[in-house]
Amino acid sequence: MNDACGKIILFGEHAVVFGKPGIAVPITNLKTTVEIELSDTFSYSVDRVLYEEEKDRLADILDIIFFSLDIEEKDIHISIKSTLPISSGMGSSAALSIAIIRAASDFYRLKLNDEKVNEVALECEKYFHGKPSGIDNTVITYEKPILYKDGEPDFLEIKPFTLMIADTGDKASTKKQVMKVKENYDKNKEIIEKIGKVSQDAKLALEKADFKTVGTLMNKNHLLLKELGVSTKKLDLLVETAIGAGALGAKLAGSGGGGNIIALVDGKNKEEVKTALEAFSKAVYVGEIK
Ligand code: MEV
Repeated sequence: MNDACGKIILFGEHAVVFGKPGIAVPITNLKTTVEIELSDTFSYSVDRVLYEEEKDRLADILDIIFFSLDIEEKDIHISIKSTLPISSGMGSSAALSIAIIRAASDFYRLKLNDEKVNEVALECEKYFHGKPSGIDNTVITYEKPILYKDGEPDFLEIKPFTLMIADTGDKASTKKQVMKVKENYDKNKEIIEKIGKVSQDAKLALEKADFKTVGTLMNKNHLLLKELGVSTKKLDLLVETAIGAGALGAKLAGSGGGGNIIALVDGKNKEEVKTALEAFSKAVYVGEIK
């Protein structure tokens, strides 16, 4: 049995695609689990009903992984289970690829190290998202908070904190959102620069455990993402709701266009923020970041 966790982009989504720094943290209480067993023929099972499109994507991902790892023997059964919500900015696609790669590594005794797992996962992300920065597969492979820039992770030492993760219930395509930003790159250049600067400042605030400043920077990052055109009315409403209920800061997390917002909470306002968000969200998850 192999698993891979979820992730949240704390700062710098979209800008990270253009070589600016982004900060991502693992969400270890939500996971995708994969088990591979010997079987008479190739088969797989998933703990929910897949749409036709998802079945095709899963078949393609398996092809990419088997091809990358030079695996020919495929009389296996792959069993996939996940507590990660899909298409909502929590890294479900990267977690799926990584859990499959790790399960294949175990089953075929390939002894893949994290670097190789990450490399193959990036190939899968390219298939899913077209032009990924690599931040999602990297934070999920290493399960550590990272500042990511130009394909390289810088591992961060941070004090634990809590995020409320509120799902709009609207599914968004990362590929489409990234394309939209790219098409308007000249117009967006200045905003992208500013987002990169917010990530740099946030790294310092996180290292000092200055969560008040982290919260203020989250609000700033959200406004910049709104200017970039990737927020929605619902995402804005959830951000305003969280701040109104006492969160230290809030922003959309991931590619936008739907998906989640995150709100930074402390012991005092945790329950209030959660209850306020529940009124407008499809689901609210608690992310304990370590
Ligand atoms: C998606 O989780 C984050 C984006 O910045 C895309 C990427 O970095 O590949 C929107």
